[in-house]
Amino acid sequence: MVKTKLFLITKNKNKYQEASLILKPYRISLEQKPLSKEEIQAESLEKIALHAARKAYVLLRRPLIVDDSGLFVEALRGFPGPYSSYVYKTIGYEGILDLLDDVENRRACFKTALALISPPLEKLFVGETCGVITRKPMGSGGFGFDPIFMPEGYSKTYAQMTTTEKNAVSHRGKAFRLMASWLARRRVYPSNRIRG
Ligand code: IMP
Repeated sequence: MVKTKLFLITKNKNKYQEASLILKPYRISLEQKPLSKEEIQAESLEKIALHAARKAYVLLRRPLIVDDSGLFVEALRGFPGPYSSYVYKTIGYEGILDLLDDVENRRACFKTALALISPPLEKLFVGETCGVITRKPMGSGGFGFDPIFMPEGYSKTYAQMTTTEKNAVSHRGKAFRLMASWLARRRVYPSNRIRG
């Protein structure tokens, strides 16, 4: 059976672990390439992901994907959105909780834009999961804003879930599954296939 191999451009080990587990049933194996993701300042995750993927392709010349994700808080008019990485590094999730102190509307959505480059293909897949920002951090699993995000219909934050549970509901799970089924449907497999 032919197995597809893709590079995932990220320095984030958690992202890589989540993504590998999502893709396992599709016989797509991921290899982490911890290159710095060249992040342009843009208002759309799609543009950021595609730009970073194109830059990485120039270096690697191998089929690859870039996942750019962000947290969009309704009461903050979508902030931090595409600036999530900078906001996490500066004020952290505690800063988001502070900004929402006394704010009743806790609604927020997590979004992943996933760019795939395997010439001549360039394709984007988007996954979104909405829920609420909790009043305090809960859980110790996952990464980033996981302790303060509780998806709709659940009574646990992402950080209180196992990786498998998070993947089943998460923005990342949705985007990666879309890509996997698109690749399978089209039978457009990236060129560096490995036997498995
Ligand atoms: P990026 O996709 O690495 O640019 O992520 C932007 C910011 O959102 C980083 O600070 C990540 O830690 C955070 N982030 C990305 N994906 C997730 C997630 O699945 N859960 C929680 N935080 C995330």
